[in-house]
Amino acid sequence: MRAPTFRNRFTETFGVSVPIIQGGMQWVSRAPLTAAVAEAGALGFLGALTQPTPDDLMREIARTRELTDQPFGVNLTILPSINPPPYDEYRAVIIEAGITVVETAGSNPASHLQFFSAAGVKVIHKCTSVRHALSAQAAGVDAVSIDGFECAGHPGEDDVTGLVLLPAAADALDIPVIASGGFADGRGLMAALSLGADAVTMGTRFMCTAESPVHENVKRAIVEAGERDTELIFRELRNTARVASNGVSRRVVDILSNGGEFADVKDLVAGVRGRKVFEEGDVEAGIWTTGMAQGLIRDIPRVADLIDRIMAEAADVHAAAGSGFAVSV
Ligand SMILES: Cc1cc2nc3c(=O)[nH]c(=O)nc-3n(C[C@H](O)[C@H](O)[C@H](O)COP(=O)(O)O)c2cc1C
Repeated sequence: MRAPTFRNRFTETFGVSVPIIQGGMQWVSRAPLTAAVAEAGALGFLGALTQPTPDDLMREIARTRELTDQPFGVNLTILPSINPPPYDEYRAVIIEAGITVVETAGSNPASHLQFFSAAGVKVIHKCTSVRHALSAQAAGVDAVSIDGFECAGHPGEDDVTGLVLLPAAADALDIPVIASGGFADGRGLMAALSLGADAVTMGTRFMCTAESPVHENVKRAIVEAGERDTELIFRELRNTARVASNGVSRRVVDILSNGGEFADVKDLVAGVRGRKVFEEGDVEAGIWTTGMAQGLIRDIPRVADLIDRIMAEAADVHAAAGSGFAVSV
């Protein structure tokens, strides 16, 4: 299958050849996946906090550069925490390593922007509402990636799906808008472009590729799962997260919806359990992130083949889309 060429303000701004981003994924977006995405012409992000220390991030960036000479970025997820990671040190490594694009997520990135901007690093801020996207634009980010309710991870608390969120954001913003959440194929990409987005971000779809470092059992679980097989945990805590439906996530939902508190689920949601899922392949061991897009995922392709396929499908949809219109004379 020969992929068509594509150009728009997203590809021009970020120096890539397809309007596709591999979003930062904790424990998943490491050198082999992000380098494969870069080699295939899309924009991949390493997860900064997947690396235990800023020095480890420096080494992971070097490892990625051994695998590709194409551009790639780093995701910096800024979450409120009792013992926050040394964000400023991770930021300093990103700048020192000469990374040219960062994906920020979580809290408002305003306090980091002057440093990135002074170093010529472009910032794509990931958020879940038009109002947060407007704040990010006002703070000076270069683009926003907007996660709809369908997404893996944190969809926010508004429950607005991409079908409304994307055109609403495209109408309100001047900077490029990237559609995130629920995208897995060329139909989705064309839909996003039609709704006013400049590109798509995919997480779950990239987690289920040959180069993704998660255990084969996790990939097979995604292929077998349907669009209904996710749970929304932490709703009561106003920190909603979309994760795989399994015995652990269903128990967490049950405990919290019956008046339990975070302390009652703390052990169930521990990060070490989730890591065990990805590393050892026991998909019932803990909480692990996946999105509704798994209902569209039926294989475990190599990244380059996936991207070629998505672009070819999008071109087919584009060609077919106009065929129903009749021009009256
Ligand atoms: C396993 C996994 C881990 C993720 N970890 C992060 C993260 O650490 N930071 C972040 O900003 N987004 C994270 N995400 C969200 C993705 O970057 C992306 O926004 C999301 O997956 C888009 O929805 P989709 O999965 O439907 O494509 C994660 C997603 C997955 C599947």
